[in-house]
Amino acid sequence: MTDRTATLSFSDGSPAVTFPVIAGTTGPDVVDIRTLYAKTGMFTYDPGFLSTGACASQITFIDGDKGELLYRGYPIEELAVHCDFLDVCYLLLYGELPNAAQQKEFDTRVTNHTMVNEQMQFFMRGFRRDAHPMAVLTGMVGALSAFYPDSMNLHDPMQRDISAIRLIGKLPTLVAMSYKYSMGQPYIYPRNELSYAANFMRMMFATPCADYEVNPVLVRAVDRIFILHADHEQNASTSTVRLCASSGTNPFAAIAAGVACLWGPSHGGANEAALNMLYDIQAQGGVAKIGEFIARVKDKNSNVKLMGFGHRVYKNYDPRARIMQKTTHEVLGELGIKDDPMLDVAMELEKIALTDEYFIEKKLYPNIDFYSGITLKALGFPTTMFTVLFAVARTVGWIAQWKEMIEDPHQKIGRPRQLYTGAPQRDYVAIAKR
Ligand code: CMC
Repeated sequence: MTDRTATLSFSDGSPAVTFPVIAGTTGPDVVDIRTLYAKTGMFTYDPGFLSTGACASQITFIDGDKGELLYRGYPIEELAVHCDFLDVCYLLLYGELPNAAQQKEFDTRVTNHTMVNEQMQFFMRGFRRDAHPMAVLTGMVGALSAFYPDSMNLHDPMQRDISAIRLIGKLPTLVAMSYKYSMGQPYIYPRNELSYAANFMRMMFATPCADYEVNPVLVRAVDRIFILHADHEQNASTSTVRLCASSGTNPFAAIAAGVACLWGPSHGGANEAALNMLYDIQAQGGVAKIGEFIARVKDKNSNVKLMGFGHRVYKNYDPRARIMQKTTHEVLGELGIKDDPMLDVAMELEKIALTDEYFIEKKLYPNIDFYSGITLKALGFPTTMFTVLFAVARTVGWIAQWKEMIEDPHQKIGRPRQLYTGAPQRDYVAIAKR
């Protein structure tokens, strides 16, 4: 709470009402309008939540103008260099970085939960082999609730914790299973002596005939991709998880809702869409055709967007994109990829967009998805798997936000109101008279 208040006055002479102003640790203050309806009989109207804080949170902070991202106060640039993904999971879930003993214990707990119930294999078989992996993952994550009825009491902190660990441990296994299924290859079981990222890559790329040779540079790149995507405060999928879970549903169902939301091309689906855009430009003539493409992006009637550019919150360079760009070059260097026409298109697009008045004026900078797609392609992941990898990483953010919400004593079911613009009350008309 601050000493400041905000007063709302009305042009029709209705009495003015005053609201407290609450300050966070950092970032914009908020006007606490919870009593607005009781005092005035009015709602606020803010579709897309352009000015609405839906909750108080201590997990992640973004300063979009500065291009700053903090997990529990730590800059993403420092975490990406000094931590591995499981350290970041611990930080997001419990608020502090682990000490050596906590790190060991946490890593062991997660790796002990990497296996999924064998029945999941039969469930997987119900899907078409060419199903999009996000469709498969949405179903598989929701289905976990059928396997762990012992950990679904939301009011028991131990059960909440075990659900969190299960979800973090099992997501890579489910994702790799969906890939193997699509390829018609046998599933590769997890190996708990490997790191989280190395185990995932092995489950993806090993076969019973040839094991996966762990390359530390490539594993580090995947681990970093996971760190960069781990949480991003109240984005669309996280808000979906919070709203879904606010009804008291189980965490597996709530995270499945998050996966479904993430799939959209304005959110997590942008990495796949960005790479498809690069493919299209390349197919149409590559770098020489970029000018035409940019002209279409700027044409209001074309509905074409430069995928991997722009962000609701970042109005400066996305700090994750900066780190990702470096990782992209590390991966390409390690793999000896020098002349990738797709990369040429990407670099040229970025150059033009960063100097073009349209993008400068609208503050449209590359976001993480612009580079993550190129990196994942080089690492051998098929385009349809990109958003699924995002889901693996974001699972910890969703769960940390879910735990925070459930542990908040003031938590209520989320129930937005509306501005009704439909027909006023009218009488039923019999079918013959319509
Ligand atoms: N290409 C061309 N124009 C754009 C783009 C773009 N990528 N993004 C925004 N604009 C324009 C938009 O047309 C609008 O113009 P005007 O003011 O003339 O109507 C203006 O910039 C403001 O855009 P907006 O759509 O009102 O902004 P938003 O905050 O609602 O949308 C966004 C943010 C991320 C959905 C949008 O920038 C976008 O669709 N970008 C491409 C998809 C993408 O890369 N998404 C990944 C986001 S980062 C990963 C994640 O967190 O999920």
